[in-house]
Amino acid sequence: MADSILIVDFGSQVTQLIARRVRESGVYCEIVPFDKAARAVERLLPKGIILSGGPASVHEDFSPQADASLFAAGLPVLGICYGEQAMVRTLGGVVERSNEREFGRAFLEVSEASPLFDGLWAPGERHQVWMSHGDRVDSLPDGFRVIARSENAPFAAIADEAGRLYGVQFHPEVAHTPDGARLIGNFVAVVCGARGGWTMAGYRVSKVADIRAQVGGGKVICGLSGGVDSAVAALLIHEAIPGQMTCVFVDHGLLRMGEAEQVVSLFREHYNVPLVHVQASEMFLGALAGVTDPEVKRKTIGRLFVEVFEAEAAKLGGAGFLAQGTLYPDVIESVAVGGPSQTIKSHHNVGGLPERMNMALIEPLRELFKDEVRVLGRELGLPEGFVDRHPFPGPGLAIRIPGEVTTEACDILRRADAIFLDEIRRAGLYDAIWQAFAVLLPVRTVGVMGDARTYERVCALRAVTSVDGMTADIYPFDAAFLGAVATRIVNEVRGISRVVYDYTSKPPGTIEWE
Ligand code: XMP
Repeated sequence: MADSILIVDFGSQVTQLIARRVRESGVYCEIVPFDKAARAVERLLPKGIILSGGPASVHEDFSPQADASLFAAGLPVLGICYGEQAMVRTLGGVVERSNEREFGRAFLEVSEASPLFDGLWAPGERHQVWMSHGDRVDSLPDGFRVIARSENAPFAAIADEAGRLYGVQFHPEVAHTPDGARLIGNFVAVVCGARGGWTMAGYRVSKVADIRAQVGGGKVICGLSGGVDSAVAALLIHEAIPGQMTCVFVDHGLLRMGEAEQVVSLFREHYNVPLVHVQASEMFLGALAGVTDPEVKRKTIGRLFVEVFEAEAAKLGGAGFLAQGTLYPDVIESVAVGGPSQTIKSHHNVGGLPERMNMALIEPLRELFKDEVRVLGRELGLPEGFVDRHPFPGPGLAIRIPGEVTTEACDILRRADAIFLDEIRRAGLYDAIWQAFAVLLPVRTVGVMGDARTYERVCALRAVTSVDGMTADIYPFDAAFLGAVATRIVNEVRGISRVVYDYTSKPPGTIEWE
């Protein structure tokens, strides 16, 4: 079994970043909720444990506890923020509420050398870190010493070197702690001695073997969405069991310019994968006629998608397996803090299908983060323009056309969107942006072209940066760039007479308009 690290989640917003940092150092890791940690240690046999931060205070009733068995196993442990406090409390130290809460940038003064700081920080140096805490450690358990302090956190980094137990009050996983990734790398490699062998080339080989073992001589159906995840899943399965998988691509008529042709030619011609291209745009647009409510649109598309997919699968004579491009962030069990969250939008995917169709699931990307999927896609030879694609939602252009979705509106939007993306690529900005797209508003405004009055629709442009789509910032294009895009769209797209730029971050806005 390859070396691994277990990450115990206490509900921090940035727990996944800890996992990213560990994997960047070439070591596999998994995230489990704090109350399932003890069993995960037995299953995974990790080389070390990292306790995440979290929003609770150890003083609250029922606050999450660090199970004593985690420290009894003799494994190295690194507690981060709340994880440090939980560790200190379990091991007999004291955590106090502090009047000086510390949020944001702070400076550490390193007081002792430690394997955690190996090749990075030396005693007497000052280093920038990111703090976010109310409580603070006030007295240490036996065996611990302070190895760094900050102005408001006298126990900013602590260590029991003999027990290989470490705690940091700051967040090494975030970019605002400039040396944080290397510090986590030190914990993984120097303290835990974990060997890095987690590469996408290795993953490809082991998944191909897993898929062969799971499927045997059976048949697999794989839904392609045009996005990178389902494409990579399909290629991996095709490599494992060539000839046993058929891809189904449901074209709902709500795709971007050239998208359907691109998917079909790539899979059929380039990879020689059996592919059924279901041309269902009339059915989808027919069902969307007169529908203006965003949730009704989403649900209509989701329902039709399942129906069409099911019918195509039946035509293929059935299959024992359904492939999905599920990613690791979708399967991490979340720690609920403050009760169940409200549904903002119902997301459309093929959930529910396997049970209805009595199929087993194949999810070869379940252990991967999005950027790892991209690396795997490159490994499998997927063209660059496909690998780096911005995410595109299942309901497609329908949720970028507030009001009624018509064939004409889709055509207008497709053209404006293609111009916007073309200009972004030409300016070399595509990879710096998480998602960029055009939205067609149900509003007409007056314009003047040549000497004539125009009265056409408004197009809004949206471009955001994000890490995971959960929060997002607007991309700050310069005015000349936006001006050039607006001019091209109004000149080249009949039906649009005005262009505006959406300046709303998420929250309070969502990325998609509906
Ligand atoms: P929102 O609009 O909720 O979107 O801020 C966050 C991210 O999710 C994508 N998105 C979807 N993806 N099916 C999907 O597969 C959907 O129904 C869906 N709705 C939104 C959105 O494009 C963004 O990247």
